Amino acid sequence: MSKINPIVTVLRDKSELLVRVAEIEDAASLVNIKFDITKEHIYMLREPYEFHNTIDIELKRINDMLHNRNKLQLVAEITNEIVGFLEFETKGIKKSEHVGSIYMGIAEHVRDNGIGTILLNTLIGWAVNNNSIEKITLQVFSNNERAIHLYKKFGFIMEGRLKNDIKLRDGSYIDNICMYKFVN
Ligand SMILES: CC(C)(COP(=O)(O)OP(=O)(O)OC[C@H]1O[C@@H](n2cnc3c(N)ncnc32)[C@H](O)[C@@H]1OP(=O)(O)O)[C@@H](O)C(=O)NCCC(=O)NCCS
Repeated sequence: MSKINPIVTVLRDKSELLVRVAEIEDAASLVNIKFDITKEHIYMLREPYEFHNTIDIELKRINDMLHNRNKLQLVAEITNEIVGFLEFETKGIKKSEHVGSIYMGIAEHVRDNGIGTILLNTLIGWAVNNNSIEKITLQVFSNNERAIHLYKKFGFIMEGRLKNDIKLRDGSYIDNICMYKFVN
């Protein structure tokens, strides 16, 4: 069971943010925010027409996250609206159960307000207290300067660069950067 105590904090713009574990009732909001970010087609791997999350799929995902002590799904809420999420999961394979990866996104209208920082800080605090988790990994597009800045701020280190791994709609390429942080 992955749980954290809910965290209430005041953001740079003075709005109040609640960070908590995702619950079953959040399924529809999570589908919506993930699809909205996918529609920007700048940061996420999938094109919008490749986004197949349904509320049912999200429900199963939330349930799986809630009942696995090596997975964590956080949501960030401002006045009852989900404006951000962070998911951490291990592959469920014995030899790599000490390693998990991050998937996160913040709604466009509230970026650069400290929400990503709070979510990542919460995840790292949880991971440090989970004696199975040793390494947090992620992949980020090489042109996503904001995300790379955030990860470096938390001590993530670049461990590889997948050259031309991403081909954009206009035929140009960008690299996918692999980053990691040891937590235990
Ligand atoms: C990347 C993302 C998760 C960060 O969340 P956020 O709430 O915007 O992040 P924060 O406000 O906590 O921090 C952003 C930091 O980036 C900095 N930043 C903003 N634009 C930047 C840029 N172009 N280059 C470098 N740094 C930048 C901000 O100044 C801030 O730094 P600071 O905390 O040292 O002042 C969020 O912007 C997002 O969801 N983006 C789209 C989806 C995405 O990229 N997901 C991650 C895929 S790997």
